[in-house]
Formats: sequence, C-alpha cells, structure tokens
Amino acid sequence: MYLPAASRYANPAFFRRCGRSGLKLPLISLGLWHNFGGADSYENARAIVRRAFDLGITHFDLANNYGPPPGSAEENFGRMLRTDLVHHRDELVISTKAGYDMWPGPYGDFGSRKYLLASLDQSLRRLGLDYVDIFYHHRPDNETPVEETMGALAQAVRSGKALYIGLSNYDHEQTARALTVLRGLGVPCLIHQPRFSMLDRWPEAKLLPLLEKEGVGCIPFSPLAKGLLTNRYFQGIPADSRAGHDPRFLRPEHVTDAVLARTRKLDALAQARGQTLAQMALAWLLGRPAVTTVLIGASKPSQVEDCAGAGANLTFTTGELAAIEQVLATG
Ligand SMILES: NC(=O)c1ccc[n+]([C@@H]2O[C@H](COP(=O)([O-])OP(=O)(O)OC[C@H]3O[C@@H](n4cnc5c(N)ncnc54)[C@H](OP(=O)(O)O)[C@@H]3O)[C@@H](O)[C@H]2O)c1
Repeated sequence: MYLPAASRYANPAFFRRCGRSGLKLPLISLGLWHNFGGADSYENARAIVRRAFDLGITHFDLANNYGPPPGSAEENFGRMLRTDLVHHRDELVISTKAGYDMWPGPYGDFGSRKYLLASLDQSLRRLGLDYVDIFYHHRPDNETPVEETMGALAQAVRSGKALYIGLSNYDHEQTARALTVLRGLGVPCLIHQPRFSMLDRWPEAKLLPLLEKEGVGCIPFSPLAKGLLTNRYFQGIPADSRAGHDPRFLRPEHVTDAVLARTRKLDALAQARGQTLAQMALAWLLGRPAVTTVLIGASKPSQVEDCAGAGANLTFTTGELAAIEQVLATG
C-alpha cells in the first residue's frame, strides 16, 4: 500500500498560478512521453510517479499516442490511478492531448472535431477517468478551420470531460488566432506547451510576450533538451540513456562535441551556483516571462528528485545571466 509523503505540500512556493487562472501548478511537472509505455518497466514507471507525487509534483502530462504502443502510457497511468493514487484524484492535474496520428483512416489525426472528441473519449477510457484536467490540441492543423478545432476544445469543457484547455506547438500567429476564437466562445485557454530550453529558444521572441499579455501560462516541454542539458552524456553515451537505447527522437549523432563543449561550460556555471546542470537549466526557464512550470521527463526516480531541487535556487544574478547568455551565444 503506497502512502504519499506527508511533506509533499510543505513548500507553498513550489506552486505557481497558471496565467490568469485559478489553477496553481507545481514548478516541476512530469511528462509520460518516454519510459511509461507498454514496452517499458511498469514497476520503474510506478516508482517514478510515486517519487514525483511524494515531492509535490501534482501535474502529470500525457497524450493519446504516448507509449509505445500508442495509448499504453495512458493505460499504465490509469492503472496507477486505480491503485497507488486512488484516494488522490482531486490532488492531481492530469493532462492529455490529441493532434498526432493515433488511429488509421482520415479521422485519427490533426484537428477535426470528429478526431478530437473521439480521442478524448478514448483517453478517458484508457485512464479510467470521467474527466481530464487539461485537454490540449497537440499541434496546429492549418487545413482545419481554427473555429472547428477550438469549438471541439470548448465542447470538451462544456461536456465536463475536460476542466481546462491548452494548445501545443502553435506558433505566435496560430496562437493569437486561436485565442481570439476561444474568447468568442467564452472558454479561455489555460496553458500553452511549446518546446523550449536553453538550447532551443524559439518561443522567446514572439510567443512568450503574447502569452504574458493574454494571461496564458506556459509549460515548456523537453526543458532539458531530452537529456542534453544534464550531466548524462559527459562520460560518453550510457546504454540506458535515451540516446543510447531509444533512437526515435534523440540519437547518438545529436550528442556532438559542440553540444558537449557548451553544456560542460554551463555545468561549471551551475556548480558555481550550487546546482546541477539540470537544476540550473530548469531554474533559468522558470524565470522566463509567462512560464508557470517546466515539463520534464525522467527514466529514474533520482532524476525527478534532482529536478525538483531546482526550486531551491531560482534567483540569478545579472552576472550569472550574462555568463549563461555568453555560453549560449558563442558556445
Ligand atoms: N507537446 C509536445 O509536442 C511534446 C513533445 C515532447 C515532449 N512533450 C512532453 O514533455 C515531457 C518531457 O519531454 P522530455 O522527456 O523530452 O524532457 P526533458 O526533461 O528535456 O528530457 C528528459 C530526459 O532527460 C534526462 N534527465 C531528466 N532529468 C535528469 C537529471 N536530473 N539528470 C540527468 N538526466 C536527466 C533523462 O534522460 P534518460 O532517459 O537518458 O535518462 C530523461 O528521460 C514529455 O514526457 C511530454 O509530456 C510534449
């Protein structure tokens, strides 16, 4: 029988308001994209989720297609909800998404009303839930009228199957259009989920100012650049690392000497702050405008512990920020 740590809410500063909403999210959120599927160790996945919840991580992020096989991360998390977390549903913020290829034929991909609402029903069945807290459109679909896609998200909220809605991978123009439609529908967008890290700063120029102005929270995904912004690859490519065993999105050729030269310099700056590189990379993101929480992945409970420690030092001196900029600009 799992009893969550009594200390999990001991630090109120671990929670921040998401945009102009009533919902607070933990500084660190846990994503179940990798290491939680049917092909992975269920007991390891379960240990990661338990450790996260013990540390006050109340927000768990899924998508219809997370696995492999697609859907299995939701099934596995649903199993944990029925066992370890059965008494804690109201302490959790559970998100899922639809937008990428999920089932064969023309109705299992992109942004139609037909796809989104059917997918949400499927996700709820796999999770064993009546509602998710956040339902996202996973990526923009320029062939479907934005009114239809946003109408489907609004319908998810009105039907009670989602409490809030979010957008992911929308650029600033697509986001601005979607927010206008949502405003007309009377259903605000809670949160935007872009890829964003020290090594991939595309949201900074236009998206973050828009989110800040509109009161939409930002939850950067892959904030550790899939593991590159950690000490994971300093002694070569470990067999159990993402680059070492899962060639889908991070391959050995991405772990270049140029990346390592840069991340070693960042690591030295992190050590001078008394942080690990992962902690500094997350703390830096948490200081960007509109950013409410960062959405990490993990392959072991110890990584979640390390990341959760980022909150202990979120303040940067101007000298530290300048030194980071120098490394990021020049390598
Ligand atoms: N909306 C979208 O389109 C989209 C796309 C991608 C991801 N996401 C979401 O974002 C979540 C996170 O993505 P991500 O997994 O790429 O994030 P990430 O945090 O950038 O990378 C996670 C990986 O970094 C390594 N790591 C984490 N903490 C560490 C630590 N303290 N020390 C050393 N290594 C550490 C682990 O690598 P090893 O596995 O090598 O140990 C871990 O699997 C996903 O689960 C998903 O929920 C959303």
